[in-house]
Amino acid sequence: MEPLSSTEILRYYRLRNKEILALEPHVQLFDEIDSTNTECKRRIQELPYGEDIFSHIPEGTVFLSDYQTAGRGRMGKAFLSPKGSGLYFSILTKPGIQHKNPLVLTCHAAVAVKRAVQELFDIKLSIKWVNDLFYKGKKLVGILAEGQLSDSSSLAYCIMGIGINLFLPESGFPEELSNIAGALFDYDEDKKENLNRNQFLASILFHYFSLLDRDKVEEEYRRENILLTKDILFTENHQDFLGRVEGILEDGSFSVRCRDGSTKIVSSGEVKEKFL
Ligand code: BTN
Repeated sequence: MEPLSSTEILRYYRLRNKEILALEPHVQLFDEIDSTNTECKRRIQELPYGEDIFSHIPEGTVFLSDYQTAGRGRMGKAFLSPKGSGLYFSILTKPGIQHKNPLVLTCHAAVAVKRAVQELFDIKLSIKWVNDLFYKGKKLVGILAEGQLSDSSSLAYCIMGIGINLFLPESGFPEELSNIAGALFDYDEDKKENLNRNQFLASILFHYFSLLDRDKVEEEYRRENILLTKDILFTENHQDFLGRVEGILEDGSFSVRCRDGSTKIVSSGEVKEKFL
C-alpha cells in the first residue's frame, strides 16, 4: 500500500476539490496512537479554559493513524484497528448553528464513505442506521461521532471518527468478530500493493466537507438504509423493543411501528444485529 502522507492527501484533495470548497484538511499523521478520537479530545482539553478551539486547531484537522492500540466504538465497545490494513481517522469540524444534532453529521459521514468507495472502487456499500457500512453482509466501516454542546445548545465542535477495514488482518479477525466484521477487499497481494489510501481518504474528506452545511440527512442515506422495512430488535435506555422500521427521517432518527401498534421515533440506542 502507498504509505500514508499528509502532503499526498492534500494534493489529492485539491485535485478532487477544484476550488469548490474553501475548507481544506490539515492532516496530522501518526504511525501509532491509542485512538484518533481520544487524541483529538486530548488536544482540545489541553487548551486553556474558554479558549476558542478553532484558533488553535484549525477546522478540518484530521488525526490519522496507521494503527490504533485502543480504538473505540459506540457503546464503549473496542474497535479493532490493526496495522497496515485499514484507515483510522478523526475529523474535527465546527458545525454550523443548524447542527444541534450529531446524528445528522454521522449520516453525512456514512454517505461520504459510501460515495468515495463507489467513486474509486466501483463498489456499492450498504448503510445500516446509524453508523455502520456493510459489504457482502459484513461490517467494514464504523463511525463514532463525539462532540460537545455549547451554551447556545448548538454543537461547539464535532469529532467524526471513522474506521475502515480495507483488508483482512494478516492473522484474520478474532473468533468473536469473524462472523460480523469484513473488509473491502479480500486478501489480495496486488490490490494491497496498489491501493492508494491517500487518494481514498482525500475523496472521503471531499464528500464529507461538501455535505457539512446541509442540515438534513441525504435522501440517498434514507432510501438505501438496510433497516428499512425490516423487523428489528432495538435497545433504548436499557429497554428492548420489537418493531418494523417504517422510515428514516430528515433528522437521522427512524420511525418504528412497534408490535403493540404504536409508532416510536428512535434517535439513539442500538439496533441488535439479529433481524427477526
Ligand atoms: C463503531 O463501530 O461503533 C464505531 C467505530 C469507530 C472507529 C473509529 S476508528 C477512528 C476513530 N478512533 C476511534 O477510536 N474510533 C474511531
